[in-house]
Amino acid sequence: MDIPTVALGNGRSIPLVGLGTHNMMGRPCIGAVSSAIEAGYRLIDTAPRYCNELSVGMGVVKSTTRRDELIIQTKLSGGDQGFDEAINAAKESARRLGVGYIDVYLIHWPCPSLGRTVDSWKALLTLADEGYVRTPGVSNFKQHHLQMLYDETGCWPAINQIQCSPALPRTELREFMAARGIHAQAWHPTGRKQGLLADPVILRIARKYGKSPTQIALRWAVQHGIGVVPKSSHAGRQQENADLFDFELDATDLADLATLDQGEGAAKDSDVHEEF
Ligand SMILES: NC(=O)c1ccc[n+]([C@@H]2O[C@H](COP(=O)([O-])OP(=O)(O)OC[C@H]3O[C@@H](n4cnc5c(N)ncnc54)[C@H](OP(=O)(O)O)[C@@H]3O)[C@@H](O)[C@H]2O)c1
Repeated sequence: MDIPTVALGNGRSIPLVGLGTHNMMGRPCIGAVSSAIEAGYRLIDTAPRYCNELSVGMGVVKSTTRRDELIIQTKLSGGDQGFDEAINAAKESARRLGVGYIDVYLIHWPCPSLGRTVDSWKALLTLADEGYVRTPGVSNFKQHHLQMLYDETGCWPAINQIQCSPALPRTELREFMAARGIHAQAWHPTGRKQGLLADPVILRIARKYGKSPTQIALRWAVQHGIGVVPKSSHAGRQQENADLFDFELDATDLADLATLDQGEGAAKDSDVHEEF
């Protein structure tokens, strides 16, 4: 299975579909990572908060794919924000993952109460200069958080991983990002916690194309150029979640899906929500 890639603002590229690993640990995580890679996934998303970097690394080793064909993406926890702290945390993540460099390293949440977001971003830029990180980026950043990084450093992140699905299309935020060359990658892209997959609109479109409701939610994203990192511990569902490139939603489908927007208020507010 060949998963298409998109170009990033820093000259690198990233697959439109990767494997999410939240809530997977130990043996099941090792198995899920290696089965996804065997199926054709080349991007694996993890975080220290998921307590599975070691297992993700073991899944990578278990696969037969070369390290330089894979994109390992992990994140800086809120508790590790700060310049020196972030440098150390990245090296600890690389050690747990068993890799010499991290492909994509994201500030997990802005955590404004700490006041260390800019120092953390400067650390990520330093890690990139020194070759420990290939692509520095962020997650859960709103427009003003992104602007603050640019104002202080003159550098936009290449990626912002955000909560995004047809139920939470985040249109204004994505337009702001697109205008600045920031790739949108969606977490919780299936929208199942928002009740998306049981919605009659999704069910109708799924029947029309002979696809599952999950595939319709994911196709909506990739058709807009939004990357997705669906999590599944089942090899069959991993294949289903990447099998999105043999059909196209038409204008009527897209207009119908646009009616499912629950509004920015339904997304986790990263001015308030913090994770450490
Ligand atoms: N940056 C952040 O703050 C942040 C926050 C949350 C998540 N994330 C990342 O984003 C990833 C995805 O988000 P998520 O895990 O919250 O949600 P998700 O990928 O939208 O949904 C995962 C759930 O859907 C099920 N599932 C997946 N594919 C399916 C299919 N084809 N048919 C039926 N069920 C299916 C999975 O169960 P099975 O495993 O049983 O298939 C799992 O229970 C995470 O794993 C994590 O890597 C990042």
